[in-house]
Amino acid sequence: MDQYAVIGNPIEHSKSPQIHALFARQTGQDLEYRALLAPLDDFAGTLRDFLATGLGVNITVPFKEQAWSLVDQHTPAAERAGAVNTIQRLPDGTLLGDNTDGKGLVRDIEVNNQLPLKGLRILLVGAGGAARGVIQPLLAAGPEQLCVVNRTVSKAEELATLFADLGPISAAGFEWIEEPVDLIINATSASLGGSVPAISTHLIKPGHTVCYDMMYAKAPTAFNRWAAEHDAARCIDGLGMLVEQAAEAFLLWRGVRPETQAVLEALR
Ligand code: ATR
Repeated sequence: MDQYAVIGNPIEHSKSPQIHALFARQTGQDLEYRALLAPLDDFAGTLRDFLATGLGVNITVPFKEQAWSLVDQHTPAAERAGAVNTIQRLPDGTLLGDNTDGKGLVRDIEVNNQLPLKGLRILLVGAGGAARGVIQPLLAAGPEQLCVVNRTVSKAEELATLFADLGPISAAGFEWIEEPVDLIINATSASLGGSVPAISTHLIKPGHTVCYDMMYAKAPTAFNRWAAEHDAARCIDGLGMLVEQAAEAFLLWRGVRPETQAVLEALR
C-alpha cells in the first residue's frame, strides 16, 4: 500500500494521521499515513529511511527549515518560505519540497470563513518560520497592506525586505502601531506558553477586526481570548488552516483535493 507519514518532534498529538485517513476514505484512495518521531539530531536519517519506500511526507516542528535544505527542488511557494512542510518523492527518486501552510491559511480565511483578503489591512504578528511561511500567499491575495510586527523588530524588517517585490509589505515594532486594522494574524509561538504578544488593544476595532490565531487547542487560545475580551468581530483558530494545508498536500500526492468541510466538522 502507498505509504505517507508526518515527521516531527514531538509528534504524538499530531492530528495529521486522522485527517489523512478521513481524506483517503472520502476520496476512495488506498493509502497508509502514520506519525513518525524523529530524533532531534537525526531528522535526515528518519526522512531518508522512510522515503526509501514511502511516497511522501509532511514535516512539522522543528524540522521544516531542515527539510528545505534536504530536498532536491522546491515549488515557488517553498522557495520563498525557506521551509518545507510537504515532500513528494518523484518517479525518478528525487525529492520535491512544497510549503502548503500559506495556501492553507488563505483558503481557511477566504473560503471557510468567507473573508476575502483583497483590499484588507492585515497585521501579521511574529517573524519566525511560521510567519515567513505564509507571507507569499497572503500578498498574492491582494491586501491593501501587510504589516509584519515582531517583538524583535529587526526580524520583521528582514522579512519585509525579503518579500518587498511581491506586494505592499511593511515592518513595525509592537509599540509603534495603534491604528486599527481589518485582520490580525498571530503567527508567534506565544500561545504555546499561554501568553499574548504585547500589541496595542487599539489595533482591534470593536465589532470589525477579525483575529486569527494560527495555533489551535481544545479551549480558545490565549490570543483568541484576548481578542474576544477586546470585542474582535470574530476569533478564529488554526484548525481550519491545519486541515486545508493537509488537503493541499493530499492534492499534490494523489491528484485529488478532498472536501474539507466534513473533515473539519469531524475534528471539531
Ligand atoms: P516558529 O517556527 O513557530 O515561527 P520561531 O521561528 O522560533 O518559531 O519564531 C517564534 C516567533 O514567536 C518569533 O516571532 C518570536 O518573537 P521574537 O522574534 O521577538 O523572539 C515570537 N514570540 C514567541 N513568544 C513570544 C511572546 N511571548 N511575545 C511575543 N512574541 C513572541
